[in-house]
Amino acid sequence: MKKVILAYSGGLDTSCIVKWLNERGYDVICFMADLGQGLGQGEDIEAIEERAYAAGASKVYIKDLQDEFAQSFVLPALKANAIYEGKYLLATALGRPLIAKYLVQIAHKEKAHAIAHGCTGKGNDQVRLEVAAGILDPKLEIIAPVRSWEFKSREEEIEYAQMHNIPIDVTKKKPYSIDRNLWGISIESGILEDLEQEPPEDAYMITKSPSGTTSYPRYVEIYFEKGIPKKLDGKSCKLTTLISRLNEIGGLYGVGRSDLVENRLVGIKSREIYEAPAATILYTAHKELESLVLDRELAHFKEMIALKYSELVYYGLWYSPLKEALDSFVESTQELVSGTIKLKLFKGNCVAVARKSQNALYKKELATYGKEDKFNQQLAEGFIKIWGMPYKR
Ligand code: ARG
Repeated sequence: MKKVILAYSGGLDTSCIVKWLNERGYDVICFMADLGQGLGQGEDIEAIEERAYAAGASKVYIKDLQDEFAQSFVLPALKANAIYEGKYLLATALGRPLIAKYLVQIAHKEKAHAIAHGCTGKGNDQVRLEVAAGILDPKLEIIAPVRSWEFKSREEEIEYAQMHNIPIDVTKKKPYSIDRNLWGISIESGILEDLEQEPPEDAYMITKSPSGTTSYPRYVEIYFEKGIPKKLDGKSCKLTTLISRLNEIGGLYGVGRSDLVENRLVGIKSREIYEAPAATILYTAHKELESLVLDRELAHFKEMIALKYSELVYYGLWYSPLKEALDSFVESTQELVSGTIKLKLFKGNCVAVARKSQNALYKKELATYGKEDKFNQQLAEGFIKIWGMPYKR
């Protein structure tokens, strides 16, 4: 029997895919990655596992990959200050190459010749999974049932699931399509497709409405060592804990929402809203610290790299040579990125208000307008003459 490893989410689509592939002669092994999407919060993991078996899976792998996700995917993106089109901190995009890596790994272990996923033919995620898997093992066949199957609507899928006794919770009709992990939440479809409407409050899952938050600000202090966030409010904690904690705190102050009409890789524009409290806080803090310790040329050059880096992540080119080369560059810039940034969270805003680093290039005796001034103002005259010289006719 042909074996296939399916990226399983526990939802309606991927559950139907299990049966659908069975009917086409496949032995289906389900793989579910825990990237911090809140598994076990709504329904328990056993229920999801049971559903996969009920749908016809012969084996189910559920792996907690949160540490690897944080260390090897989120952290390099944070060091690079990666943000797509100025608003999207790439939570979904960063998760895909990791899922692809495990799909390929399990395929090898199980001697499967194919992998499958439940992405539609219109999104970025199909590209990310397939390009990543193709780089890791070009021989694996890729099956994307949703691109070609016969179901025209959610109702038809539900009917199919019921016909085959796949235990699906059809009571709550989901008004949105949601993808969630530790680094953030992506929410699209439904009413959000109407660009003339403000996203309704019920679309947001982990952030309070900024207008409804407390009238007192909350300060947080992040300590970084070589670009890696190590302490929150003076206490050391591991990266996944730090991120979850900041998601909670930021969420309470309405921090990290964004509403974006983005350019998809497949050529269409789409409207998506994002919630990424921890990512927003850490991105702001990391950039602020870099402003303090990186020299001007390096800081400006690194901004250009950030733009390219975000495109590579968004475009599914995580395992590409350019992305790896940029990682080495970015890593080399982080040597001096150590210090503490204090941020103020208030009614949806997150701003750095104080900073401290032993590697700061800021020199008060040069910047000051007070009497401790050590800047030799006479030197400016010669500097300006030479600087402007090439432009004089
Ligand atoms: N637009 C985002 C991206 O391309 C998220 C895609 C998944 N979104 C979702 N709501 N299911 O990375």
